[in-house]
Amino acid sequence: MKPLPRTPLAQLPTPLQPMPRLSAALGGPQLWVKRDDQTGLALGGNKTRKLETLCAAALEAGAGTLLTAGAIQSNHCRQTAAAAASLGLACTLVLAGEPPALTSGNLLLDGLFGAEIIWTTFEERPAVLQAAEADLRAAGKRPYLIPYGGSSPLGAAAYAYALEELLGQGLAPDSIVFATSSGGTQAGLVAGARLLGYGGRILGISVDERAADLQARVAPLAVETAELLGGSIQLAPEDVLVNDDYLGEGYAVMGAAEAEAIRLFARHEGLLVDPVYTGRAAAGLIDLIRQGYFNKDENVLFWHTGGAPALFAERYQQDLHDG
Ligand SMILES: Cc1ncc(COP(=O)(O)O)c(C=O)c1O
Repeated sequence: MKPLPRTPLAQLPTPLQPMPRLSAALGGPQLWVKRDDQTGLALGGNKTRKLETLCAAALEAGAGTLLTAGAIQSNHCRQTAAAAASLGLACTLVLAGEPPALTSGNLLLDGLFGAEIIWTTFEERPAVLQAAEADLRAAGKRPYLIPYGGSSPLGAAAYAYALEELLGQGLAPDSIVFATSSGGTQAGLVAGARLLGYGGRILGISVDERAADLQARVAPLAVETAELLGGSIQLAPEDVLVNDDYLGEGYAVMGAAEAEAIRLFARHEGLLVDPVYTGRAAAGLIDLIRQGYFNKDENVLFWHTGGAPALFAERYQQDLHDG
């Protein structure tokens, strides 16, 4: 794969670890975890990898401000704010939702990193983002727009490199399971798999969207990502594996399944998964194991994409405490 410019932000490679106690508790398969919750930038997560390629392009373009958008508890926004601070850039975040009375979790960290926050509604977010970019430009602040979730071909390419990193650690798992949302992580893994000849299952557990919608977005993004990396692949939406059985009560609503997954990972492995993304993916993994979806002797890798700061968001405190 062609090497793209990357601004070092992450501690790589992230650890690859077996999860023997969780495997035993669930009665197999052989579970592993790839610790992208330990990427090292401001409590870690998958966005650190994407920001390495995206920030290289921002610096190359002479940016003075990183501009991006997300939900109130966006890990992507928290990581972007931290990357900006570490590179001496300003950061503006467009967040969809009502400013909460108590600032907690990722939102608290956004403020510590000095990010300017513009509040809007989910519907108006694209227009507000565009207006923010124009205002920053007019004020001479040289904005660089980081796409939603960092999920452009440039951001996704980081996950093709991440797959190469995993294979270099000596494990080619039968299945890789992870949380998928804006689709860049999955697009990068899928592109990397085709370019590197990895034939395992790459199964995204959808956090908020129907499988067909995600597949339709991830397939062309993976094709473009492969092109950026100097390759050429063909991919149809149905080649992208997405499971949307675990959407529960909707985005960021923690239900009994997520709460159980958070406890199982914590109590059996000392690992933290979060109420929004990795807890939902972990709940999907646990349920698929219980259904017998995987063979008992398979190596199944849970790609931990981070998110733990949301455990400290005010809205989840009571349920996590009571459970
Ligand atoms: C912790 C965590 N896991 C997974 C994802 C999903 O990654 P992607 O947006 O690349 O699909 C996100 C996205 O915000 C995230 O914050």
